[in-house]
Amino acid sequence: MVPTRSDLASSAPDEAPGADRLAEPAARPSSPRRYRRVTCLTPWGEREEQDGELALRMATTRDGETAWGFGAHPSSSLAISVLLGLYQDGAPNPQRVLDVGCGAGVLSICCARMGAREVRGIDINPAAPRVAALNAADNGAGSCQFDTTPLAGIVGCYDLVIANLPSPEIQIELSGHLAARARGGLLITSGYISTHAAKIEQAYAALEMRFLYSAELTDTDGKEWSASLFKSRGLAGPSRPLP
Ligand SMILES: C[S@@+](CC[C@H](N)C(=O)[O-])C[C@H]1O[C@@H](n2cnc3c(N)ncnc32)[C@H](O)[C@@H]1O
Repeated sequence: MVPTRSDLASSAPDEAPGADRLAEPAARPSSPRRYRRVTCLTPWGEREEQDGELALRMATTRDGETAWGFGAHPSSSLAISVLLGLYQDGAPNPQRVLDVGCGAGVLSICCARMGAREVRGIDINPAAPRVAALNAADNGAGSCQFDTTPLAGIVGCYDLVIANLPSPEIQIELSGHLAARARGGLLITSGYISTHAAKIEQAYAALEMRFLYSAELTDTDGKEWSASLFKSRGLAGPSRPLP
């Protein structure tokens, strides 16, 4: 069963994110962000994980290298909200996950900590796999794998593909590859404001991805961010990349 809109409404962050923007590594969130049982702690805070809580402590700079993502940006918050729905009791609980644009690894780590068996994160930023691997090890998700393989070079199909990407243009440019890797499974798109949601839904509809629902979150500047969940209409396909 996939989560409903009311599941998502109850999974909205307790505190609307907005302290950071797309140039996130430079702007630190001022306080922990909570998404139901997931909390993204500030990297410099002292607080420990509490009972029943999944607390992630993300650093975006490790050993002098920087990658994107404290987990506080609305695009990450929305993706975490959708993930929470997918890993609740009776939900699909995706086991093989591909996180495209993994940055510092927050969404990969979240999936692994919620029960995914195999998580691979990829990013074009060469620093991202190293930063993400250190964050994964520190957050009890050391089995996640991170690398810089271009999406076009990834083979096989995943139960869940996550694409929190920097712009709607990149989302659409990569849509054929993302849909191919999500064949037979689910796809989460994020990283754009709501005015772009319709054209992204159209792009995926043309690729046999059934739109299930979207979630929205308004930041402190009044910008409404959107994320969507799609389900592939096809069966898992052959394990080869698109030409
Ligand atoms: C909005 S950040 C998301 C980071 C992380 N998933 C999170 O939620 O915190 C987008 C990431 O996508 C990466 N990226 C941009 N274009 C990409 C591409 N064509 N393939 C893979 N990663 C890409 C960027 O380097 C950046 O780390």
